[in-house]
Amino acid sequence: MTTKNSTLHHQIRNLAKAKKAIILAHNYQPAQIQDLADLCGDSLEMSIKAAATDADIIVCCGVRFMAETAAILCPDKIVLMPNPDAGCPMADMVTPQALVRRKEELGGIPVITYVNSSAAVKAVSDICCTSANVVKVVNALTADEVLMTPDRNLALYAAANTGKKVHLWEGYCPFHNDLSVDAVNASKSAHPKALFVAHPECPPDVLELADSIQSTSGMIRFAGDSSADQFILGTETGLIHAISKAHPEKTFFPVSDQLVCPDMKKTRLQDIMNCLENMSGQVTVEETIRIKAMNAVKKMINTK
Ligand code: 13P
Ligand code: SF4
Repeated sequence: MTTKNSTLHHQIRNLAKAKKAIILAHNYQPAQIQDLADLCGDSLEMSIKAAATDADIIVCCGVRFMAETAAILCPDKIVLMPNPDAGCPMADMVTPQALVRRKEELGGIPVITYVNSSAAVKAVSDICCTSANVVKVVNALTADEVLMTPDRNLALYAAANTGKKVHLWEGYCPFHNDLSVDAVNASKSAHPKALFVAHPECPPDVLELADSIQSTSGMIRFAGDSSADQFILGTETGLIHAISKAHPEKTFFPVSDQLVCPDMKKTRLQDIMNCLENMSGQVTVEETIRIKAMNAVKKMINTK
């Protein structure tokens, strides 16, 4: 870390303590943001931590849906997003109006919405899921037929791992969806001793090549539990920092240097300092939407 960044890091930590703020970061955030955070995790861990914290302020370092989820769960707290421009292109692939229409066309079957979605979409959903709990959530519903939005790859993964009929929505992550079988095979040839671990946002032909399919934090746990010492990661390259920190004795290779989410890289240390100093970048959700969205998110968190 440069001297400037190290000074800023300490100034932010002091300010966060003085203002009773907690800093949450996603596993894809830039390394210096991960190193600053009180908790670095996957979407599920970030929601659980936001719901349970006694801090007055939640600084959410990630993309908009993550900050919105914190605001949905914590109406009495201030939720700040250091760079309010950071969005998730997949979340923009579904609108509440289109989802309600599709649900009606399908006779009102339950809608499971990936947390990578807006608060307004969550508000017209029966339950949410993340990549960490999607199979558990689908299995917990009594219905045999469900509609899942917005990620078609996650829905195909859920269908393959539950006995249920899962209707797809044609959304996708532009970065995970671009991962090809050729790229995976090239990486496997370059690292023949490595296990290949993939995120369920990857296309089905890529997932077929995986030794394990996991959320980002699931990959960190899998690497710890495995006797292997080399892993190819089929997910965004930011995870390399988080997973190498957790398991410094093991080696991790990104399946492709191109698998980078530009929105996840938008947070800077200076943005965090600015938002805490000025209380800027506040994220709120309109109350009628918030209550409905909260029901869908809480149902997910409470699914055993
Ligand atoms: P995780 O919940 O597995 O961390 O994934 C979030 C995400 O945006 C993946 O692209
Ligand atoms: Fe959205 Fe893909 Fe970025 Fe995850 S990696 S935040 S799904 S665009």
